[in-house]
Amino acid sequence: MAQRLYIVGNWKMQGTRAMLSEARAIDRAAERLIKAEVALAPPFTLIHATRKEAGLIGVGAQDCHAAEGGAHTGDISAPMLKDAGAGFVIVGHSERRADHGETDADVKAKAEAALAAGLAVIVCVGETEAQRDAGEAESVVAAQLDGSLPRAEGAADKVTVAYEPVWAIGTGRTPTVEDVGQMHRSIRARLTDIYGEAGAHVRILYGGSVKPDNAAELLAADEVGGALVGGASLTAESFLGIIVAAAELGEG
Ligand code: 13P
Repeated sequence: MAQRLYIVGNWKMQGTRAMLSEARAIDRAAERLIKAEVALAPPFTLIHATRKEAGLIGVGAQDCHAAEGGAHTGDISAPMLKDAGAGFVIVGHSERRADHGETDADVKAKAEAALAAGLAVIVCVGETEAQRDAGEAESVVAAQLDGSLPRAEGAADKVTVAYEPVWAIGTGRTPTVEDVGQMHRSIRARLTDIYGEAGAHVRILYGGSVKPDNAAELLAADEVGGALVGGASLTAESFLGIIVAAAELGEG
């Protein structure tokens, strides 16, 4: 049976309690749009409140530390996220790789910590514009997958991959549907190399300037199992435009 498309909103460093009304509105609509699976990753400070306000959608975090606890001022561990009500965590977002110097090994350690805490993980990969121009997009992403994916027993059942070309994030530019399909096929091949048969069922999300008006065509591309949405997930109105597109594709 085909999986429902998975639409995840990443609020990044945006959102105060005033935005819980958006989460509530998204949750109410998701109740009707059952042909799509919906989740939000608000900032740490809103995870608990979002979980309480929005009972149907998935709620997750945008990062975690690789250790279970200890002397790491300002960091948040995977068990703490679980305790706050998170069901998943995004790791390896390009903004964290760039702003915090996170390596593939760091991302893998975080993903393994998340799985150990009972969370699902979304592992982000994606090339820069210079890497794409140099014809290296697929090899860069393959190397990120090799280095970042968790290998614990059963990991493939709890992992989602998000392909987010760095140059498409927040820019309004997107790859062509053909380019998205080609990259996602290449990611699928790597996933089956790494996880064997279980790799065939790992969802691969596309992220980078997904909006209500381009969602339907991007979501219909080959091997696209959903979307990781930044800016357009900040209001219920725009996020719902994307969720509706996913639900319509899910009807087919
Ligand atoms: P935008 O949708 O704002 O381009 O952000 C994509 C992203 O980085 C989601 O994680």
